[in-house]
Amino acid sequence: MPKNKTSWFCTSCGNESPKWMGQCPACGEWNTMVEETVVTGSRQSRQAASKGRGLLRGSSAEPEALKDISLENKGRISLGHQEIDRLLGGGVVEGSLILIGGEPGIGKSTLSLQIPLQAPQLKTLYASGEESPRQIKLRGQRLGGNHENCYILGETSVENIIAQAEKLSPGLLIVDSIQTVCTEDADSSAGTIVQIRESAAKFLRYAKESGTPVILIGHITKDGNLAGPKILEHIVDVVLQFEGDSKHAYRILRSIKNRFGSTSEIAVYEMTGTGLREVSNPSEMLIPMHDEDLSGTAVAAIIDGTRPFLVETQALVSTAAYGTPQRSATGFDVRRMNMLLAVLEKRAGFRLAAKDVFLNIAGGLRIADPATDLAIAAAILSSNFDLPVSPEYAFAGEIGLSGEIRPVSQIDRRISEAGKLGFSRIFVSSYSKELQGRNRIGNMEVIQCGNITDMCKKLFK
Ligand code: TYD
Ligand code: MG
Repeated sequence: MPKNKTSWFCTSCGNESPKWMGQCPACGEWNTMVEETVVTGSRQSRQAASKGRGLLRGSSAEPEALKDISLENKGRISLGHQEIDRLLGGGVVEGSLILIGGEPGIGKSTLSLQIPLQAPQLKTLYASGEESPRQIKLRGQRLGGNHENCYILGETSVENIIAQAEKLSPGLLIVDSIQTVCTEDADSSAGTIVQIRESAAKFLRYAKESGTPVILIGHITKDGNLAGPKILEHIVDVVLQFEGDSKHAYRILRSIKNRFGSTSEIAVYEMTGTGLREVSNPSEMLIPMHDEDLSGTAVAAIIDGTRPFLVETQALVSTAAYGTPQRSATGFDVRRMNMLLAVLEKRAGFRLAAKDVFLNIAGGLRIADPATDLAIAAAILSSNFDLPVSPEYAFAGEIGLSGEIRPVSQIDRRISEAGKLGFSRIFVSSYSKELQGRNRIGNMEVIQCGNITDMCKKLFK
């Protein structure tokens, strides 16, 4: 009889330990260990899952000379969405396991139901542990499309889902969500790390053995990580992350791991009354806010973690009503803002000491990347002179205490992200080694500035 025992698992990286620890020895995170029941009998499959080996038992792979391996896109299946096909590197690969993560309400279920409805040639099994088939039908009616070849299964048992998939042999299996399904092999309840790992390993084995691509939907924790997660990131072939504010219409689907393509791609969607709409020109995301040229806003190309993206910084500079001017910042360090104001005053001669200055980072974001400095300086000057900054301009540079504009890391990625989002011109440091002598990268015109006065001249000429 299998014996129950408990172990401690790190919720951040999945590391297992026989006893509680304040800090996870594997990833160094604090207070992330939780106790979970493990069944001794499931050790084998767990080991298989964590090592990723032994999963292809029964498959008859033979070594091939590297030179003989064909590069044709033979095993690629189109998902009917141009954007997601591009994100995956030209369609989904046979037998691959894809994880789509995102916060609740962001549109994961909508997207994964839209795929079969818009790709009627693809027979799909959509297994949901979250919604009943009736609820899914109602959503499907709203989304429109072709309902012929899409099968719905309201089920949470991994074994049953796989048994049904084997019977139906679909061209694509979607599991919504990995946190609601459970396998008999693990004794703990759904959503625990052991369950997520065991279940994902089962789906991986099914995908590899049958050649059917499997899409797993995963929820995200508060701090933006896939819940249960790092372990899943190792197992799956592709990780797509849905980002954005569920209160706003625009969503970004970002590839953060892809064994079959590039990870620097993003796809932009708009949530409408009839589901998600692909936004092929993402710059339209920022354009509605710039119907007319407004002063006091500038866009920064920042990198958060490993991801480049663009944020709008807003400043309001007005004559102080009281003796001591007010300074306040939302989403940005107020001390750094004061430093920037002092630099603008002392090094570039702008008279800001007697002005109230309010700063805001749009979208409720909190930014710590020093590359935001240049956009903030531009927004402050723009508001001060009441001269708008063109909505086609982006900024990426750190400002030093002597007013010089310092180069920032990964400038190429920032420029290409700005280019992808429809900007035409970016202000950067002239001291950047990577950009020596280059004034154009792709569609972007690169404006190199040595110091604040220089930028101001080039910006408001
Ligand atoms: P959903 O796909 O259920 O999110 P997730 O699976 O990531 O939790 O999306 C839910 C939100 O999308 C919900 O707030 C309603 C909205 N929505 C629309 O605006 N239009 C639509 O056509 C659909 C289906 C959903
Ligand atoms: Mg859902």
